[in-house]
Amino acid sequence: MNTNKENNNQLTSKLPNVGISIFSEMSGLANEYKAINLSQGFPEFDTPEFIKQKINQYISRGLNQYAPSPGLPQLQNAIADLINEKYHSHINGSTQVTVTSGATEALFVAIQTLVHPGDEVIIFDPAYDSYKPAIELADGKVVHIQLKAPQYTINWSEVSDSITSKTKAIIINTPHNPTGTILKTSDITELSTLINQHDLYLISDEVYEHIVFDEQTHLSALRFNKLQERAFVISSFGKTFHCTGWKLGYCIAPPHLTEEFRKVHQYVTFSSFTPAQAAIADMLTENSNHVFELAEFYQKKRNILINALQKSRFKLLSSQGTYFLLLDYSAISDLKDIDFCQWLTKEHGVAAIPLSVFNNSGHCDKIIRLCFAKKDDTLIQAAERLCQL
Ligand SMILES: Cc1ncc(COP(=O)(O)O)c(C=O)c1O
Repeated sequence: MNTNKENNNQLTSKLPNVGISIFSEMSGLANEYKAINLSQGFPEFDTPEFIKQKINQYISRGLNQYAPSPGLPQLQNAIADLINEKYHSHINGSTQVTVTSGATEALFVAIQTLVHPGDEVIIFDPAYDSYKPAIELADGKVVHIQLKAPQYTINWSEVSDSITSKTKAIIINTPHNPTGTILKTSDITELSTLINQHDLYLISDEVYEHIVFDEQTHLSALRFNKLQERAFVISSFGKTFHCTGWKLGYCIAPPHLTEEFRKVHQYVTFSSFTPAQAAIADMLTENSNHVFELAEFYQKKRNILINALQKSRFKLLSSQGTYFLLLDYSAISDLKDIDFCQWLTKEHGVAAIPLSVFNNSGHCDKIIRLCFAKKDDTLIQAAERLCQL
């Protein structure tokens, strides 16, 4: 008899604690109450005309069958060229770059590639929501380290104390969603020491790599030789080219790690949407200015929102990258952040994301996240409503 068979046709959930995501919930509520939706992290503006024309051309010309599993060679090479120019690295497109169906797939595949049952993976809360379930599906153990508001800096001695003989990997995310912080040189030095001392692997989620403000530098793991040797560096074109719905991203790793990554990738999606790969390759080779101008584009939006909120009673936290700004509402309300966000949407017509949902412990600091990847008018209108509180 199969002892795994459940009684009464009840399926035993592999993710018993996962429900509908707060992003879907808040967007649903925003639609229902016709609120301005600054909750979910997607741009309100379209992908560049150049990319739209290119993808249409490729579809019309019949580029509609499977791409090679690691990606179209022209895209792998275009990614390597951009990365090598930006980070002074020596990435090889064909042996180190794998194109994936969004960063979400890349994260999932990197985690399945590394994690065996019982392995521990350190993540920092507040954390992007896909890390934990992916680790648990691999029968790994998530070790949460809680970062403290309002700085959200990493205490590296706490990280060191959390490392055991079972620790397999550390996941970092810079620039960081939801807090908008970026890692500094001292963080990378500490990280590198721990990774090498304990033979760990690094998964570096860098989906906002081109959105860093105030002339600061994005410290990609690919800039550092010792770190790069043990790293899976993951990014997303959705964030860079305002096409989150295309779900196109990539993973860069050393050749021997890439080989293992590709074994898993081929059984998850095999390959990603071919015409989009060709269109993005053209954009990167013929129109790469977009990438280099992205930080300035979003910095202006950040500043519009910050200026428009100056007269509000919210306390604004510093946003150094990404397209998110955190607001502390403790001078306005005693509600828990989830209740506050529901109230804000229903009563004041602005949807935001409560920060506690990114904390495994549910810890609440009375902070909410706004997405400023929106048209200027939308940001100003939302700020006017927030200033009335
Ligand atoms: C930190 C972070 N990692 C990964 C992803 C997933 O990216 P993609 O849409 O390309 O799967 C997101 C998307 O919001 C994100 O914010």
